[in-house]
Amino acid sequence: MKQAPRKYANYIPIRELETLEERLSPFKVYAELRDNTPVRYDEHRECWDVFGYEDVKYVLKNPKLFSSARDRANTSMLTTDPPKHKQLRDLVNQAFTPKAIEALAPRIQEITDELIAPHLSEGHMELIDDLATPLPVIVIAELIGVPAADRQKFKDWSDVLVKGARDDSEQAFQELLEEKKRNMQELHIYFTDIMEERRLQPKDDLISLLLAAEIDGQQLTSDEVVGFCILLLAAGNETTTNLITNAVRILSEQPELQQELREHPERITSAIEETLRYYPPIVAIGRVAKETVELNGQTIQAGEQVISWVGAANRDSTQFEHPEDFISDRKPNRHMGFGFGIHFCLGAPLARLEARVVLHTLLQHMGNIQLMPGTALQPIQSAFVFGVKHYPIQFNLI
Ligand code: HEM
Repeated sequence: MKQAPRKYANYIPIRELETLEERLSPFKVYAELRDNTPVRYDEHRECWDVFGYEDVKYVLKNPKLFSSARDRANTSMLTTDPPKHKQLRDLVNQAFTPKAIEALAPRIQEITDELIAPHLSEGHMELIDDLATPLPVIVIAELIGVPAADRQKFKDWSDVLVKGARDDSEQAFQELLEEKKRNMQELHIYFTDIMEERRLQPKDDLISLLLAAEIDGQQLTSDEVVGFCILLLAAGNETTTNLITNAVRILSEQPELQQELREHPERITSAIEETLRYYPPIVAIGRVAKETVELNGQTIQAGEQVISWVGAANRDSTQFEHPEDFISDRKPNRHMGFGFGIHFCLGAPLARLEARVVLHTLLQHMGNIQLMPGTALQPIQSAFVFGVKHYPIQFNLI
């Protein structure tokens, strides 16, 4: 077994993305890599990269060969393998059913309306700061049972959870690890306090539900409840922010889609799936090989990191016709924007619901949605998140 890699490849951008333009739209570079070196070892990041649809699917559907475990102390389901993974996921599922999520629709609509209202008459808004960031944070905070007064703290913590290094240097990397460690400690203390309160006095919230969840006499430990709350922040906030923003970005880059979706609102659901394919918020998913594996002619050794590029697989012509076109009612659409296999995104129904409510509401009230002229877009500094930092829009009131 090889030593654990010195660097987490997920934190370091691939070198092929050289220019700002490429980082704002990496898909051409991904396509070249997929077509020329579908499975390759990157000496710089010390990891394997997998770009083709079938190969990515193979990695994600074989947890026996490709492990999600990262560090032994970690108790979150995202980073555990079977059989522990199934036990955690089943317990949490009890509290996270699609039906329970659908029941949140009226509240999500209310929050969306409140967030948009002050900007409608102005004809412009900062999509990310004013809507796409606060919405998922408020929804998850309310779902977990966090007091409204703590939302800003909540957002700051969730930002650090998914933050990438400021640059490629060893110093930046060490600083980031330190910051993440401090952040984790704060989050632990915070959620442990809330959990102890709920233990004494349960409420109608997710923490109370998780404390009560039981299968075959098995319950979640305190660490697992806290770990799951932290996972929801890490996995659910920035991803949903980016799904909403990436969807609006497509609407403003391809304005004819706005009228199409207004005329065919039933296509909004499939347009969101197409956004997850075309501009996926998560472009890469990490695993570690558990044994020596042959993949597309390459030999991956046990212990080596393997990064699966969903962003490349989602535009593979062996799977998708006209992969470079955004087709709002594409069918079938077997994108891997929410991953694949046993770790398939638990929050997918929630993310889809939030995006659907937002798109409906924006298209209903706003005509000719455009990126504010003169805006210089900045990519989010992360190797596995695809999104921008700011997205100011202007529009006509309908
Ligand atoms: C897992 C993407 C929203 C909770 C995943 C995975 C992906 C993903 C790709 C698989 C990771 C892997 O295989 O290692 C997304 C995207 C989202 C989104 C693109 C928004 C558009 C959410 C939300 C929540 C959530 C809103 C919760 C409220 C989770 C959890 C897992 C997960 C708990 C781990 C599942 C497991 O390990 O079994 N997500 N996610 N996600 N996601 Fe999401």
